[in-house]
Amino acid sequence: MIIARTAVELRAALDSKAGSVGFVPTMGALHVGHRTLIEKARVENDVVVVSIFVNPTQFLAGEDLSKYPRREEADFKICELSGVNVLFYPEIDSMYGTDEISIKAPDVRGYILEGASRPGHFDGVLTVVMKLLNLVRASRAYFGKKDAQQLSLITQMVKNFFMDVEIIAVDTVRESDGLALSSRNVYLTQEDRVEALKLSASLKRATHLVMQGVRETNVICRVMMDILQPLKVEYVAIVNRRFEAIPEVIIGDTIVLVAARVGSTRLIDNVWM
Ligand code: PAJ
Repeated sequence: MIIARTAVELRAALDSKAGSVGFVPTMGALHVGHRTLIEKARVENDVVVVSIFVNPTQFLAGEDLSKYPRREEADFKICELSGVNVLFYPEIDSMYGTDEISIKAPDVRGYILEGASRPGHFDGVLTVVMKLLNLVRASRAYFGKKDAQQLSLITQMVKNFFMDVEIIAVDTVRESDGLALSSRNVYLTQEDRVEALKLSASLKRATHLVMQGVRETNVICRVMMDILQPLKVEYVAIVNRRFEAIPEVIIGDTIVLVAARVGSTRLIDNVWM
């Protein structure tokens, strides 16, 4: 595995490789969710590139940028054992200069739900993903459905800017009890960990209701809110794949999303139906 610390090193590493390139951008603290993306990239491409970069521009003031888990040694090992060919691990200075041009998330889709709770977050995500995609020039880039709105906006950016990369969506990986894997789960205390199950439980209940024939989204949202008590719920929403609110679930074109605070940790989860 080649570890590249700068754009020049990354290009040199990639120019020495032939074939299709699968790319998995991450912020590190790698877990089985990340590893599933890497595994899919490995199966579908000749060369696998992973980036680890805790991108400062997607954190709002007061968020967890300074305490975001950093696990360099363990992450390198996971990448190596997962068959990653090139690991891009840049310093901030290799990624950002001063007075730069940046990408702005769309006014509506970029500022609802996660974008309403974290205004400007997606500007930072899209800007760094644009930089990374331009650097790696991958054939395919892999993103988790866990971050559904992020995935949707990146797919839109690639389309709007005529970028030549295929965006591949990967199903959410969960613990056996339903908790969606997240680098932020390390913040949870033992009691938080139990409370956190309410997110996946509410989504499971939503799925059951739909299977029983319930379609009204406001009915489903109300039931979910009850299950989520007493957590501080930031939103429960049911949207179509274009992230437009819908009055009724349409099978094959619906995403049910939840964001809530468990103790001091903010968690998100969703289910696609
Ligand atoms: P990060 O949170 O490290 O996630 C990297 C990728 O792993 C994202 O595509 C995310 O959706 C996916 N992922 C996280 N948890 C997952 C799970 N339980 N199952 C499946 N996939 C999962 O998302 C980011 O980093 C950043 O915003 C990034 C895109 C790297 C830009 O900085």
